[in-house]
Amino acid sequence: MLLNLPATPIVFFGGKGGVGKTTLAAAFALHSAEQGARTLLVSTDPAHSAGDMLEVPLGDETSEVLPGLHAVEIDPEAEAERYIADVKERVRQVASPRILDEVEREIDLARSSPGAEEAALLDRFAELMRTAGGTYDRVVFDTAPTGHTVRLLSLPELMSRWIDGLVSRRRKVRSLGRMWRNVAGAAAGTAGREEDPVLDALEERQARFRAAREIVTDPKRTAFTFVLTPERLPILETRKAAAALERSRIPVAAVIVNRVLPPDARGAFLTRRREREARYLDDIDRELAAYPRVRVPLFDSDVQGVEGLRRVIAALEDGA
Ligand SMILES: Nc1ncnc2c1ncn2[C@@H]1O[C@H](COP(=O)(O)OP(=O)(O)OP(=O)(O)O)[C@@H](O)[C@H]1O
Ligand SMILES: [Mg+2]
Repeated sequence: MLLNLPATPIVFFGGKGGVGKTTLAAAFALHSAEQGARTLLVSTDPAHSAGDMLEVPLGDETSEVLPGLHAVEIDPEAEAERYIADVKERVRQVASPRILDEVEREIDLARSSPGAEEAALLDRFAELMRTAGGTYDRVVFDTAPTGHTVRLLSLPELMSRWIDGLVSRRRKVRSLGRMWRNVAGAAAGTAGREEDPVLDALEERQARFRAAREIVTDPKRTAFTFVLTPERLPILETRKAAAALERSRIPVAAVIVNRVLPPDARGAFLTRRREREARYLDDIDRELAAYPRVRVPLFDSDVQGVEGLRRVIAALEDGA
Protein backbone atom coordinates (compact mmCIF):
# COMPACT_ATOMS: atom_id res chain seq x y z
CA MET A 1 0.00 0.00 0.00
CA LEU A 2 1.18 3.48 -0.88
CA LEU A 3 2.64 5.42 2.09
CA ASN A 4 2.96 2.12 3.95
CA LEU A 5 -0.56 2.78 5.11
CA PRO A 6 -2.60 -0.05 6.48
CA ALA A 7 -5.08 -1.00 3.74
CA THR A 8 -8.10 0.56 5.44
CA PRO A 9 -11.33 1.22 3.56
CA ILE A 10 -11.36 4.84 4.77
CA VAL A 11 -8.49 7.31 4.48
CA PHE A 12 -8.54 10.95 5.59
CA PHE A 13 -6.11 13.66 4.43
CA GLY A 14 -5.87 16.67 6.70
CA GLY A 15 -3.50 19.57 7.27
CA LYS A 16 -3.05 23.32 7.22
CA GLY A 17 -4.31 25.40 4.28
CA GLY A 18 -2.37 25.07 1.04
CA VAL A 19 0.07 22.33 2.08
CA GLY A 20 -1.10 19.85 -0.58
CA LYS A 21 -4.04 17.93 0.92
CA THR A 22 -6.09 17.91 -2.26
CA THR A 23 -3.05 16.97 -4.35
CA LEU A 24 -2.13 14.05 -2.13
CA ALA A 25 -5.70 12.85 -1.59
CA ALA A 26 -6.29 12.88 -5.36
CA ALA A 27 -2.99 11.09 -6.06
CA PHE A 28 -3.72 8.51 -3.40
CA ALA A 29 -7.26 7.94 -4.72
CA LEU A 30 -6.01 7.64 -8.31
CA HIS A 31 -3.41 5.09 -7.29
CA SER A 32 -5.99 3.16 -5.28
CA ALA A 33 -8.30 3.02 -8.33
CA GLU A 34 -5.45 1.98 -10.61
CA GLN A 35 -4.67 -0.86 -8.21
CA GLY A 36 -8.17 -2.14 -8.86
CA ALA A 37 -10.00 -0.84 -5.79
CA ARG A 38 -13.28 0.90 -6.50
CA THR A 39 -12.43 4.27 -4.99
CA LEU A 40 -14.44 7.34 -4.05
CA LEU A 41 -12.70 10.68 -3.54
CA VAL A 42 -14.70 13.01 -1.29
CA SER A 43 -13.84 16.70 -1.23
CA THR A 44 -15.26 19.32 1.11
CA ASP A 45 -13.11 22.05 -0.31
CA PRO A 46 -15.26 25.10 -1.04
CA ALA A 47 -12.71 26.13 -3.70
CA HIS A 48 -13.56 23.02 -5.73
CA SER A 49 -9.92 22.22 -6.34
CA ALA A 50 -10.34 18.43 -6.48
CA GLY A 51 -12.28 18.92 -9.72
CA ASP A 52 -9.62 21.30 -11.02
CA MET A 53 -6.89 18.83 -10.17
CA LEU A 54 -8.66 15.98 -11.98
CA GLU A 55 -9.75 18.36 -14.75
CA VAL A 56 -13.39 17.32 -14.52
CA PRO A 57 -16.30 19.23 -13.02
CA LEU A 58 -17.42 17.55 -9.79
CA GLY A 59 -20.76 17.91 -8.12
CA ASP A 60 -22.89 17.02 -5.20
CA GLU A 61 -23.67 13.58 -6.64
CA THR A 62 -20.89 11.01 -6.97
CA SER A 63 -19.70 10.50 -10.53
CA GLU A 64 -17.10 8.27 -12.15
CA VAL A 65 -14.24 10.49 -13.30
CA LEU A 66 -11.81 7.77 -14.43
CA PRO A 67 -12.21 4.00 -14.62
CA GLY A 68 -12.75 2.87 -11.03
CA LEU A 69 -12.32 6.38 -9.62
CA HIS A 70 -15.43 8.18 -8.43
CA ALA A 71 -15.57 11.64 -6.91
CA VAL A 72 -17.96 13.98 -5.15
CA GLU A 73 -17.66 17.55 -3.87
CA ILE A 74 -19.69 18.47 -0.80
CA ASP A 75 -20.83 21.96 0.11
CA PRO A 76 -21.43 22.20 3.89
CA GLU A 77 -23.86 25.10 3.54
CA ALA A 78 -26.00 23.25 1.01
CA GLU A 79 -25.91 20.14 3.24
CA ALA A 80 -27.23 22.13 6.18
CA GLU A 81 -30.03 23.65 4.08
CA ARG A 82 -31.01 20.24 2.81
CA TYR A 83 -31.17 18.76 6.27
CA ILE A 84 -33.34 21.59 7.57
CA ALA A 85 -35.66 21.31 4.57
CA ASP A 86 -36.00 17.59 5.22
CA VAL A 87 -36.88 18.02 8.89
CA LYS A 88 -39.41 20.74 8.04
CA GLU A 89 -41.02 18.51 5.46
CA ARG A 90 -41.39 15.74 8.01
CA VAL A 91 -42.93 18.18 10.46
CA ARG A 92 -45.39 19.43 7.87
CA GLN A 93 -46.67 15.92 7.33
CA VAL A 94 -47.75 15.41 10.91
CA ALA A 95 -47.90 18.70 12.79
CA SER A 96 -51.16 20.47 13.29
CA PRO A 97 -51.28 23.93 11.70
CA ARG A 98 -51.63 25.34 15.19
CA ILE A 99 -48.10 24.39 16.20
CA LEU A 100 -46.45 24.39 12.75
CA ASP A 101 -45.17 27.99 12.94
CA GLU A 102 -43.72 27.48 16.36
CA VAL A 103 -41.94 24.25 15.40
CA GLU A 104 -40.57 25.80 12.20
CA ARG A 105 -39.17 28.66 14.22
CA GLU A 106 -37.46 26.16 16.49
CA ILE A 107 -35.95 24.41 13.44
CA ASP A 108 -34.71 27.70 11.93
CA LEU A 109 -33.06 28.48 15.23
CA ALA A 110 -31.23 25.16 15.10
CA ARG A 111 -30.04 25.98 11.54
CA SER A 112 -28.39 29.19 12.68
CA SER A 113 -26.90 27.73 15.85
CA PRO A 114 -23.15 27.08 15.88
CA GLY A 115 -22.22 23.62 14.67
CA ALA A 116 -25.18 23.25 12.31
CA GLU A 117 -23.04 23.09 9.16
CA GLU A 118 -20.43 20.85 10.75
CA ALA A 119 -23.21 18.55 11.87
CA ALA A 120 -24.68 18.41 8.38
CA LEU A 121 -21.24 17.77 6.88
CA LEU A 122 -20.52 15.07 9.38
CA ASP A 123 -23.87 13.52 8.62
CA ARG A 124 -22.94 13.31 4.95
CA PHE A 125 -19.48 11.95 5.85
CA ALA A 126 -21.15 9.30 7.96
CA GLU A 127 -23.36 8.32 5.05
CA LEU A 128 -20.34 8.11 2.70
CA MET A 129 -18.29 6.17 5.25
CA ARG A 130 -20.94 3.51 5.24
CA THR A 131 -20.35 2.94 1.51
CA ALA A 132 -16.72 1.96 2.23
CA GLY A 133 -16.47 -1.80 1.99
CA GLY A 134 -19.77 -1.89 0.08
CA THR A 135 -20.34 0.25 -3.01
CA TYR A 136 -16.67 1.28 -2.80
CA ASP A 137 -13.63 -0.59 -1.63
CA ARG A 138 -12.08 2.65 -0.45
CA VAL A 139 -13.32 6.14 0.40
CA VAL A 140 -10.71 8.92 0.48
CA PHE A 141 -11.59 12.19 2.24
CA ASP A 142 -9.84 15.40 1.22
CA THR A 143 -10.75 17.61 4.15
CA ALA A 144 -10.75 21.32 4.90
CA PRO A 145 -7.81 22.83 6.83
CA THR A 146 -6.78 21.27 10.13
CA GLY A 147 -8.65 23.12 12.83
CA HIS A 148 -11.93 22.48 11.16
CA THR A 149 -11.19 18.85 10.30
CA VAL A 150 -10.01 17.89 13.72
CA ARG A 151 -13.03 19.55 15.20
CA LEU A 152 -15.22 17.71 12.77
CA LEU A 153 -13.66 14.34 13.46
CA SER A 154 -13.86 14.73 17.18
CA LEU A 155 -17.40 15.96 16.65
CA PRO A 156 -19.29 12.73 17.05
CA GLU A 157 -18.47 13.20 20.72
CA LEU A 158 -19.06 16.93 20.72
CA MET A 159 -22.11 16.52 18.56
CA SER A 160 -23.59 13.76 20.65
CA ARG A 161 -23.45 16.07 23.61
CA TRP A 162 -24.97 18.90 21.60
CA ILE A 163 -27.74 16.69 20.33
CA ASP A 164 -28.29 15.11 23.75
CA GLY A 165 -29.01 18.63 24.96
CA LEU A 166 -31.44 19.34 22.13
CA VAL A 167 -33.15 15.99 22.62
CA SER A 168 -33.66 16.44 26.33
CA ARG A 169 -34.92 19.98 25.82
CA ARG A 170 -37.28 18.70 23.18
CA ARG A 171 -38.49 15.97 25.54
CA LYS A 172 -39.22 18.51 28.24
CA VAL A 173 -41.18 20.73 25.88
CA ARG A 174 -43.06 17.68 24.71
CA SER A 175 -43.99 16.40 28.12
CA LEU A 176 -45.29 19.81 29.10
CA GLY A 177 -47.27 19.93 25.87
CA ARG A 178 -48.55 16.43 26.50
CA MET A 179 -49.68 17.28 30.00
CA TRP A 180 -51.52 20.25 28.67
CA ARG A 181 -53.05 18.23 25.83
CA ASN A 182 -54.00 15.42 28.15
CA VAL A 183 -55.87 17.84 30.32
CA ALA A 184 -57.46 19.54 27.33
CA GLY A 185 -57.90 16.21 25.52
CA ALA A 186 -59.44 14.54 28.52
CA ALA A 187 -61.97 17.31 28.60
CA ALA A 188 -62.58 16.82 24.86
CA GLY A 189 -62.16 13.03 25.08
CA THR A 190 -59.20 12.85 22.62
CA ALA A 191 -56.08 12.28 24.75
CA GLY A 192 -53.31 10.31 22.96
CA ARG A 193 -49.79 10.22 21.58
CA GLU A 194 -48.70 12.78 19.01
CA GLU A 195 -45.81 12.06 16.65
CA ASP A 196 -42.70 14.17 17.04
CA PRO A 197 -40.69 14.29 13.80
CA VAL A 198 -38.19 16.78 15.26
CA LEU A 199 -37.28 14.39 18.03
CA ASP A 200 -37.19 11.50 15.56
CA ALA A 201 -34.80 13.40 13.26
CA LEU A 202 -32.52 14.32 16.15
CA GLU A 203 -32.42 10.79 17.44
CA GLU A 204 -31.69 9.36 13.99
CA ARG A 205 -28.84 11.81 13.58
CA GLN A 206 -27.51 10.93 16.98
CA ALA A 207 -27.43 7.25 16.02
CA ARG A 208 -25.57 8.07 12.78
CA PHE A 209 -22.96 10.08 14.71
CA ARG A 210 -22.38 7.22 17.13
CA ALA A 211 -21.83 4.85 14.20
CA ALA A 212 -19.42 7.32 12.50
CA ARG A 213 -17.49 7.72 15.71
CA GLU A 214 -17.02 3.97 15.94
CA ILE A 215 -15.67 3.89 12.38
CA VAL A 216 -13.14 6.74 12.74
CA THR A 217 -11.71 5.38 15.98
CA ASP A 218 -11.13 1.92 14.50
CA PRO A 219 -7.60 1.66 13.04
CA LYS A 220 -8.67 -1.33 10.96
CA ARG A 221 -11.23 0.79 9.18
CA THR A 222 -9.84 4.34 9.16
CA ALA A 223 -6.41 5.83 8.52
CA PHE A 224 -5.84 9.52 9.15
CA THR A 225 -2.88 11.15 7.38
CA PHE A 226 -1.48 14.62 7.90
CA VAL A 227 0.07 16.61 5.11
CA LEU A 228 2.53 19.35 6.04
CA THR A 229 5.38 21.33 4.53
CA PRO A 230 8.80 21.65 6.21
CA GLU A 231 8.03 25.05 7.73
CA ARG A 232 7.48 26.33 11.24
CA LEU A 233 3.74 26.93 11.31
CA PRO A 234 2.63 23.74 9.56
CA ILE A 235 4.83 21.75 11.98
CA LEU A 236 3.30 23.49 14.99
CA GLU A 237 -0.20 23.06 13.71
CA THR A 238 0.31 19.40 12.84
CA ARG A 239 1.66 18.63 16.29
CA LYS A 240 -1.38 20.23 17.87
CA ALA A 241 -3.81 18.56 15.51
CA ALA A 242 -2.21 15.14 15.95
CA ALA A 243 -2.42 15.52 19.72
CA ALA A 244 -6.07 16.54 19.46
CA LEU A 245 -6.87 13.52 17.31
CA GLU A 246 -5.10 11.21 19.75
CA ARG A 247 -7.13 12.73 22.54
CA SER A 248 -10.32 11.86 20.73
CA ARG A 249 -8.83 8.38 20.20
CA ILE A 250 -8.48 8.76 16.43
CA PRO A 251 -5.16 7.17 15.43
CA VAL A 252 -2.80 9.04 13.08
CA ALA A 253 -1.55 6.62 10.41
CA ALA A 254 1.06 8.70 8.57
CA VAL A 255 2.60 12.11 8.02
CA ILE A 256 3.42 13.32 4.51
CA VAL A 257 6.08 16.00 4.23
CA ASN A 258 5.32 17.79 0.98
CA ARG A 259 7.35 20.25 -1.10
CA VAL A 260 10.77 19.15 0.09
CA LEU A 261 13.48 20.84 -2.01
CA PRO A 262 14.86 18.29 -4.46
CA PRO A 263 18.61 17.57 -4.29
CA ASP A 264 19.19 18.79 -7.84
CA ALA A 265 17.88 22.30 -7.12
CA ARG A 266 20.96 24.53 -7.07
CA GLY A 267 21.99 28.12 -6.45
CA ALA A 268 22.99 30.28 -3.46
CA PHE A 269 19.39 31.13 -2.65
CA LEU A 270 18.29 27.49 -2.63
CA THR A 271 21.33 26.45 -0.61
CA ARG A 272 20.26 28.81 2.16
CA ARG A 273 16.71 27.60 1.96
CA ARG A 274 17.88 24.03 2.08
CA GLU A 275 19.86 24.67 5.29
CA ARG A 276 16.79 26.05 6.95
CA GLU A 277 14.67 23.25 5.55
CA ALA A 278 17.09 20.64 6.94
CA ARG A 279 16.44 22.00 10.42
CA TYR A 280 12.69 21.76 9.93
CA LEU A 281 12.97 18.24 8.56
CA ASP A 282 14.92 17.32 11.70
CA ASP A 283 12.20 18.89 13.82
CA ILE A 284 9.59 16.85 11.99
CA ASP A 285 11.55 13.63 12.44
CA ARG A 286 11.94 14.34 16.12
CA GLU A 287 8.56 15.81 17.01
CA LEU A 288 6.45 13.52 14.86
CA ALA A 289 8.62 10.46 15.42
CA ALA A 290 5.62 8.47 16.56
CA TYR A 291 4.20 8.38 13.02
CA PRO A 292 5.44 6.86 9.77
CA ARG A 293 6.72 9.71 7.57
CA VAL A 294 7.21 10.07 3.85
CA ARG A 295 8.66 12.98 1.85
CA VAL A 296 7.40 14.35 -1.45
CA PRO A 297 9.65 16.74 -3.40
CA LEU A 298 8.72 20.18 -4.59
CA PHE A 299 8.07 19.82 -8.32
CA ASP A 300 9.11 22.40 -10.89
CA SER A 301 5.44 23.19 -11.58
CA ASP A 302 2.00 22.86 -10.02
CA VAL A 303 0.44 19.42 -9.94
CA GLN A 304 -2.22 19.27 -12.61
CA GLY A 305 -4.23 16.48 -14.21
CA VAL A 306 -3.65 12.74 -14.18
CA GLU A 307 -0.08 13.16 -15.45
CA GLY A 308 0.77 15.50 -12.59
CA LEU A 309 -0.79 13.11 -10.10
CA ARG A 310 1.29 10.25 -11.52
CA ARG A 311 4.45 12.20 -10.63
CA VAL A 312 3.18 12.46 -7.06
CA ILE A 313 2.39 8.75 -6.95
CA ALA A 314 5.91 7.93 -8.21
CA ALA A 315 7.39 10.17 -5.50
CA LEU A 316 5.29 8.46 -2.83
CA GLU A 317 6.44 5.06 -4.06
CA ASP A 318 10.08 6.18 -3.95
CA GLY A 319 9.66 7.73 -0.52
CA ALA A 320 8.09 4.65 1.04
N1 LIG B 1 4.99 18.79 -4.26
C1 LIG B 1 4.49 19.81 -4.95
N2 LIG B 1 5.23 20.47 -5.87
C2 LIG B 1 4.72 21.50 -6.55
N3 LIG B 1 3.48 21.98 -6.41
C3 LIG B 1 2.68 21.37 -5.51
C4 LIG B 1 3.13 20.26 -4.72
N4 LIG B 1 2.11 19.87 -3.93
C5 LIG B 1 1.08 20.71 -4.17
N5 LIG B 1 1.41 21.61 -5.12
C6 LIG B 1 0.58 22.70 -5.66
O1 LIG B 1 0.28 23.57 -4.57
C7 LIG B 1 -1.03 24.10 -4.67
C8 LIG B 1 -1.80 23.79 -3.40
O2 LIG B 1 -1.99 22.38 -3.28
P1 LIG B 1 -3.37 21.77 -2.79
O3 LIG B 1 -4.52 22.43 -3.46
O4 LIG B 1 -3.26 20.30 -2.90
O5 LIG B 1 -3.32 22.21 -1.26
P2 LIG B 1 -4.48 22.05 -0.17
O6 LIG B 1 -3.80 21.69 1.11
O7 LIG B 1 -5.54 21.16 -0.65
O8 LIG B 1 -5.02 23.54 -0.10
P3 LIG B 1 -6.38 24.05 0.62
O9 LIG B 1 -6.07 24.10 2.09
O10 LIG B 1 -6.59 25.40 0.03
O11 LIG B 1 -7.46 23.08 0.29
C9 LIG B 1 -1.63 23.47 -5.92
O12 LIG B 1 -1.52 24.38 -6.96
C10 LIG B 1 -0.75 22.25 -6.18
O13 LIG B 1 -0.69 21.93 -7.56
MG1 LIG C 1 -7.61 21.46 -0.86
